[in-house]
Amino acid sequence: MDKKDIDWANLGFGYIKTDKRFVSDFKDGKWDEGRMTGDDTIVLSECAGVLQYAQTIFEGLKAYTTRDGKIVTFRPNLNAERMEDSARRLEMPVFPKERFVRAVLDTIKANEAYVPPYGSGATLYIRPYMFGSNPVIGVKPADEYQFRIFTTPVGPYFKGGVKPLTIKVSDFDRAAPRGTGNIKAGLNYAMSLHPIVVAHNEGFAENMYLDAATRTKVEETGGANFIFVTKDKKIVTPKSDSILPSITKRSLLTVAKDYLGLEVIEREVLFSEIGDFAECGLCGTAAVISPVGKVNDHGREICFDSGMESMGEICGKLRDTLTGIQLGETEAPEGWIYPVD
Ligand code: PLP
Ligand code: COI
Repeated sequence: MDKKDIDWANLGFGYIKTDKRFVSDFKDGKWDEGRMTGDDTIVLSECAGVLQYAQTIFEGLKAYTTRDGKIVTFRPNLNAERMEDSARRLEMPVFPKERFVRAVLDTIKANEAYVPPYGSGATLYIRPYMFGSNPVIGVKPADEYQFRIFTTPVGPYFKGGVKPLTIKVSDFDRAAPRGTGNIKAGLNYAMSLHPIVVAHNEGFAENMYLDAATRTKVEETGGANFIFVTKDKKIVTPKSDSILPSITKRSLLTVAKDYLGLEVIEREVLFSEIGDFAECGLCGTAAVISPVGKVNDHGREICFDSGMESMGEICGKLRDTLTGIQLGETEAPEGWIYPVD
């Protein structure tokens, strides 16, 4: 199989149309058998549930070429489970886990020519999603749905790769207590578009959202969870019912404990204490672990010891170990790596 002629090393986090995508339709109470198609377009009723009431959920994961040239993906079973939670919360049908995982592997295989080579720094991003497709005008769930998976080769989410970021404390809230912050619903991202444009216009890479009820606790950013490192090298990460349970974060906590021998603490993190931490990182599929050098709170700068020049020591070790596992350089925990063929 010949790889596509793409400048892998200079890819940003953008959309490039690849050859194939998976589609399955839900009608009359059941999913059809699904199919792979070359058609990247979707024709919908003007009144489709997704267009009127934003009934849409998604997932994100990556495929990698390992050191020995195999194509693999990372913990797709957890994306399947999280998508089940998202579907239930938005009154959508569940796409069965085994079928989800199979379809992810098949879609990667069908786009093998777009999986970036080992050592390029790029990966194939995989985007499973589901939406209400039949006309809905009274506010209620759709009866028909489409589940799809497309792929796109990507480079780093943040320009500059692993250079420390400056982020701002947002004046907006991301998720209400008992709302939808803990699922991956399109609506959570729609609401973040204005705050991210504001942040970018002010020169910041991302927003730090605080808890909506008290605005005293750290939640997450628009697309990643936080990891902090204490001065005595313990890992602290915010615990909250209104943040997305990041698969990268859960994996990094295992890496910290089992590979690096570090203590890991999941607890509420007060905004007032973040200046005490030595390092801060944003973790997610797209972000991997991206270092934060500074948080700007309405002009007051909170600087981490790791500084603005390079990634802190512990975040660096976490990143190297996790990417080593994903690239087949470091032995993976049982069940984390799924070969594509
Ligand atoms: N938080 C939000 C709001 C996200 O959009 C993402 C990205 O998926 C994450 C956290 C990280 O989750 P994961 O590590 O599963 O990609
Ligand atoms: C991911 O990391 O997969 C995400 O979905 C984040 C998104 C904001 C690109």
